[in-house]
Amino acid sequence: MNKLLSALENVKQQLTVPPSGILTIAQTFQQEMIDGLTGKPSSLKMLPSYLTIPSGKETGKFLALDFGGTNVRVLLAELQGDGHFTIHAHHSRPLKDPQGKYNYISGKSTATDLFDFIARQIAEIASPDIFYPLGHTFSFPSRQTNANNAIALEWSKEIATQGVVGQDVNDLLTAALKRQGIFNVVPQVVLNDTVGTLLTAAYNDPCADIGCIVGTGHNTAYLEPSAPWTNAQMIINIESGNFAKLPSSVYDNTLDKITEKPNTQRLEKMCSGRYLGELVRLIAYDLIGSGLLAQQADARRILSKPDVLSAADVAMFIADNTPELTGIADWLKDHLQFGSSTHQDKVVLQTVASLVSLRSARLVAATFLGILRHIDPNLECCHTIGVDGSLYEKMPGYAENLSQTLQEPLQDKARLVKVLLAKDGSGIGAAVAVAITQNK
Ligand code: GLC
Repeated sequence: MNKLLSALENVKQQLTVPPSGILTIAQTFQQEMIDGLTGKPSSLKMLPSYLTIPSGKETGKFLALDFGGTNVRVLLAELQGDGHFTIHAHHSRPLKDPQGKYNYISGKSTATDLFDFIARQIAEIASPDIFYPLGHTFSFPSRQTNANNAIALEWSKEIATQGVVGQDVNDLLTAALKRQGIFNVVPQVVLNDTVGTLLTAAYNDPCADIGCIVGTGHNTAYLEPSAPWTNAQMIINIESGNFAKLPSSVYDNTLDKITEKPNTQRLEKMCSGRYLGELVRLIAYDLIGSGLLAQQADARRILSKPDVLSAADVAMFIADNTPELTGIADWLKDHLQFGSSTHQDKVVLQTVASLVSLRSARLVAATFLGILRHIDPNLECCHTIGVDGSLYEKMPGYAENLSQTLQEPLQDKARLVKVLLAKDGSGIGAAVAVAITQNK
């Protein structure tokens, strides 16, 4: 075997999670959930949402604000009951301008800059003479004492805007709406995007009890049968992206060190779209030492810098099924100024991309197993897991890899567990949340 292929073999070993590893991760995850719920030290925050599952009969027209970290989206959604809804209007803007004109998520921006920008996006959809109750999806760890307040605990997903952590994000939004002269839009609920995804799935599926995002970030929420704050059913935001008790490769450790916040969000940095391209880049950079890209100096220099490779590039590498892998060849030419790649170079890059994506799907599935064991130890009931996010929706083979990983250990009980795309879950879920709290 040549040097490059044996180096690739080593990468494969580091990234492979065998069936026994899946079971161990599931077990550890379940224990961390219990520890988090009972106030013991745990990498899982287990945050209360003060929301429970909808009946499916909720109706009404609501504004939904979805602030996830890459874009701010505003929806005008109408719930029609019987699990049906219509989106009447939709508006989306990136939080960081691709042309570099503005960036509301860097450490140079303030809470006022960010929330004023968000309020202006709301004004794009809200007519000035109609009253709108608004559901605010704030997709970061936050501490709630009811469904309408949320103190931001910390940023994740490389966001660093000043003055938000420690503040109530609905207060920040309300103040920004006032500054912008918008008095007819009133935030009534604040929720995590995973909670919204679960609410969306549950709006038309009574079996839904887990909601997950695999997009820029990764996290899961579930319906806890007896939450410690109320001793009743409540959706809990696990903040599973921070799960830390799992084996990591040297590449994960290198990546962690160059992130905004090392030693946090370890699972998210192995699974989510913000980081998958970075992992492939770091592995490719390492493989150059073993002969990838014939140690071409420009390619090496470019690959040494963060963010040259995105999750969309990883998806393209995997999807390239042309005999000559021309998509990958073009990418190498356009991004690394490397016009003379060999077939082996391209195959190695495609293999690394597939390994990183497969590991992500398997790790996410392992956490689902942990949650299922917690809520239904003998697996007696049906469970629908609603998943939203660009990676789950668009990464070739991702959804299949996830379902298959789940099926192996569940065996004949696998028929009780469904994993479904809950498209726009984080947005629609905000509308469902407002409807639930209004009908109380
Ligand atoms: C990050 C956030 C979490 C969110 C997830 C998906 O992990 O901390 O709150 O749910 O991204 O957007």
